[in-house]
Amino acid sequence: MFDDTLKVFKELNKRDFRILTGIEIEMKNYEWVPVPELQRYVGLPTEKLNFHLERLRRKKMVVGTLDPYEGYKIYFEAYDALALHTYVQRKTIAAVGSEIGVGKESVVVEVLKEPEIEIAEPEVFILKLHREGRTSFKQVKRTREHLVGKEHFSWIYAARLASKREFTIMSKLYPDISVPKPIDQNRHTLVMEVAKGSELSKTKVLDPEWYLDEILNQIRLVYSKGIIHNDLSEYNIFVSDEGVQLIDWPQYITKDHPHAEELLRRDIENVLNHFSKKYMVHRDADEILRDILENTTFEDAVTGDPDVVDLMTAEDLAEAETMTDDDFEEGVFAEDFDDFTVQY
Ligand SMILES: Nc1ncnc2c1ncn2[C@@H]1O[C@H](COP(=O)(O)OP(=O)(O)OP(=O)(O)O)[C@@H](O)[C@H]1O
Ligand SMILES: [Mg+2]
Repeated sequence: MFDDTLKVFKELNKRDFRILTGIEIEMKNYEWVPVPELQRYVGLPTEKLNFHLERLRRKKMVVGTLDPYEGYKIYFEAYDALALHTYVQRKTIAAVGSEIGVGKESVVVEVLKEPEIEIAEPEVFILKLHREGRTSFKQVKRTREHLVGKEHFSWIYAARLASKREFTIMSKLYPDISVPKPIDQNRHTLVMEVAKGSELSKTKVLDPEWYLDEILNQIRLVYSKGIIHNDLSEYNIFVSDEGVQLIDWPQYITKDHPHAEELLRRDIENVLNHFSKKYMVHRDADEILRDILENTTFEDAVTGDPDVVDLMTAEDLAEAETMTDDDFEEGVFAEDFDDFTVQY
């Protein structure tokens, strides 16, 4: 699925990106962006604009309507392409590799970043593209009051919110908590380091007691920052010789959440159940929960909990508005985005 987007991405030129950016910006105000509005932003003669819109339509980047007026909106795939475009410009991403995970609410791919020093090897990172708005309106509902009259924007909004929440909390927890280092964030996506080792669910550890202690210790440390992961399980924990890393953070809650205790218990129970079933290592959830609740002082608590984000932040808008034709340089992707496969 993402492969198709990538294929199209490489074929897009500077005018296509300018048009997509124009539609993206105007989607803040319109469900279907009227052609005259778009024209004002893009500054192309009608014939040229129509040619590009038809191209983008055939590539399934945009969809149009003629009723009640001629207007366009972008598909999720176009939003992916715009984020990739931004990362290329920022030199966060130089190439895209294989897809390593398709969750219910995200697509995860390996990407390559050119090294800062020329002679060094390029480094592999993870690009996570959020998909929340597509499948679930859970997040949107929670913040519905901010969406009045902008329901058409809800998928962008939900995915963007999830990505911002995830990047922000990971940035606050890293490096005290063992999470992959967050690198960059844009729109509905984020870039982070590759987690070390493999998913707990996909491996059999030789020293389960030691790993369980490491995980419980992380849960405790996270809670001491006033945070609860809230989706912890063997699928969101990586294990390696060095220890454990916790991934997948957009649904985290703070200790002040009305169901904080219950949700902390659920995280602990998910982990204990896994160790009990797979390794016959049994621990008492009540005892662990009580110990955490009674012995945490929150001296190191983190604050700032983005439950709401701007549809387009001032920063994003400024960036888009100041882009010149040179920023949308033709052909740069075709050469730089050769696929690659990473071997571990
Ligand atoms: N930093 C990372 N390093 C290595 N693999 C990762 C990383 N982040 C995500 N993955 C892989 O991608 C999968 C999906 O990522 P993640 O759990 O963050 O997203 P999700 O879509 O919310 O998942 P879920 O299926 O739990 O809804 C993970 O289970 C893991 O295999
Ligand atoms: Mg997950």
